[in-house]
Amino acid sequence: MITVKGVVKRFQNETAIRYRDMVFEDGKSYMLLGASGCGKSTLLNMIAGILSPEEGSILIGDEDMTKKSQKEKDKFRIERIGYIFQDFKLIPEMTVMDNINILRLERVDTSGADGTLAALGMLDKKNKKVKHLSGGEKQRVAIARAIVKKPEIILADEPTGNLNFEIGEAVIRQLMEISRGKTLIAVTHDERLAKYFDCTVDMNEVTGGDGNV
Ligand SMILES: Nc1ncnc2c1ncn2[C@@H]1O[C@H](COP(=O)(O)OP(=O)(O)OP(=O)(O)O)[C@@H](O)[C@H]1O
Ligand SMILES: [Mg+2]
Repeated sequence: MITVKGVVKRFQNETAIRYRDMVFEDGKSYMLLGASGCGKSTLLNMIAGILSPEEGSILIGDEDMTKKSQKEKDKFRIERIGYIFQDFKLIPEMTVMDNINILRLERVDTSGADGTLAALGMLDKKNKKVKHLSGGEKQRVAIARAIVKKPEIILADEPTGNLNFEIGEAVIRQLMEISRGKTLIAVTHDERLAKYFDCTVDMNEVTGGDGNV
């Protein structure tokens, strides 16, 4: 279970985001909706331990991410969280397989790479350079790289943002298939995808009218 409690995130430019309390249950899938700038990516980054809130706590199970050192947070993320970034963060000059195997530098076990790529219909592309792939294919590689370590938590920031609806829907179906039994929190602007998720969290409602404090 992920518990967001009393969280306020402040940036140096005096932006402040006050989050309403939220609970994400184990094994469920959540769709985060909300206007641009309401704090969706910031929330994922705080859950992943990339950013820290100025107030409040983010509990994953009984571990408080906000009490850990950066090194401990990085270790936790590498071992237990799969993060699909909006801009993929793939290396275009490298092959699909090398983009996954690069995780070995963080001591991630990538022995499941073939199976993961196969589940996403990408095994036959494993020796292709990423720069030669289509947008939907790159998205699948980003998903494969995030889930190859079999994380218990998957965070996905607009996993379909760059894709047309049909391809985006296919990617979401595959993401759902592959994240069954895990906690999935995905940001998406496309309400047509809501039917694939167990719950929808409207961040506009979550941050409410006093989002800026
Ligand atoms: N590093 C930063 N420095 C200063 N302000 C930031 C920083 N990161 C985010 N913000 C601000 O915090 C607010 C929330 O940003 P965030 O990226 O979480 O929004 P979002 O809900 O993901 O929006 P979008 O749908 O456009 O991706 C915005 O006002 C943004 O300008
Ligand atoms: Mg964002």
